[in-house]
Amino acid sequence: MIAKLDELRAKAITELDGIDKPSDLEAWRIRYLGRKSALTQILRGLAALSLEEKRATGAAANELRAFLEKSLALREEAVRDSVIARAIEGGRLDITLPGRSPALGRLHPTTQMLRQVCNIFMTMGFEVVEGPDVEWEYYNFDALNIPQDHPARDMWDTLWMDFTTEDGRRPMLLRTHTSPMQIRVMESRRPPVRVIVPGKVYRYEATDATHEAMFYQIEGFAVDRNITLADLKGTLFEFAKRLFGEERRVRFRCDYFPFVEPGVEMAIDCFLCDGAGCQLCSGSGWIEILGAGMVHPEVLRRVNYDPEIYTGFAFGLGLERMLMLKHGIEDIRLFYSNDLRFLRQF
Ligand code: DAH
Repeated sequence: MIAKLDELRAKAITELDGIDKPSDLEAWRIRYLGRKSALTQILRGLAALSLEEKRATGAAANELRAFLEKSLALREEAVRDSVIARAIEGGRLDITLPGRSPALGRLHPTTQMLRQVCNIFMTMGFEVVEGPDVEWEYYNFDALNIPQDHPARDMWDTLWMDFTTEDGRRPMLLRTHTSPMQIRVMESRRPPVRVIVPGKVYRYEATDATHEAMFYQIEGFAVDRNITLADLKGTLFEFAKRLFGEERRVRFRCDYFPFVEPGVEMAIDCFLCDGAGCQLCSGSGWIEILGAGMVHPEVLRRVNYDPEIYTGFAFGLGLERMLMLKHGIEDIRLFYSNDLRFLRQF
């Protein structure tokens, strides 16, 4: 029996060495390792042998099977290499062709600006907080000193939710600004607070080059003892310099927002013409970038902060507007129309 196994080994290996096609390898495997192969027959027949014979033949037959399997694997590898080598020689395979590089994504310009603005305020000690896009009328308006039927509500073209109370009012809306988070944050903690709130806001707008129905704002506010308009000016001046350049100047003028008193708008001197007057700044030399003010005592009272003890400042700015100014982009609609030719520039 052992002699027969040796003979089988020699024959199988000689044949295997001559094979150079994958299909011949498979035929060889069936012939020498398949169900009907001589080796399999021998292994099956072991049971009929005497104990001694079984031991010797079994060990030799199993060893041969392992050896043939390993030889087959090695030969398969060699055949595969030579198939590739022949394809290269024959010109059917060109391994010098550059591969296809995977398309790499990048952050949307709004996200980049959002992070940049957040970082600036974070280094000044502000904490980042987010809030809901669908908001109660109470937080968006009433608590911010904008009562029902007050003409100030016309400053925000509002998208109301299709949900009415018994008296026919619609108490939910898509927030028109990030200011409602002033209330939510102050309701849940005591001063001092220093928070910024980035997020989406929604307006019932006919869209055009400067209006979108959805855009991003960043709200910021600080409330503590002894906070004055000087703190507001210092903080926002620092912000303007870090975002638009160390040489920037800022200008504050009175403005009206129901939740601040006094209310201001902040402008920076035009970085394109350095204040001389150009198309970007409509000839004025100044560009308005945000609204701000001292938190209205009425708003503080709402959240049980005593306005005799605490004061604070607040501001709100539009992220897309910052981007448009910084990069000279003329149409806000470009940000969300998914044109990769536009987005890849950032
Ligand atoms: N919420 C205002 C808006 O959307 C922007 C704003 C103005 C926010 C003045 C403020 C502020 O916090 O003090 O038009």
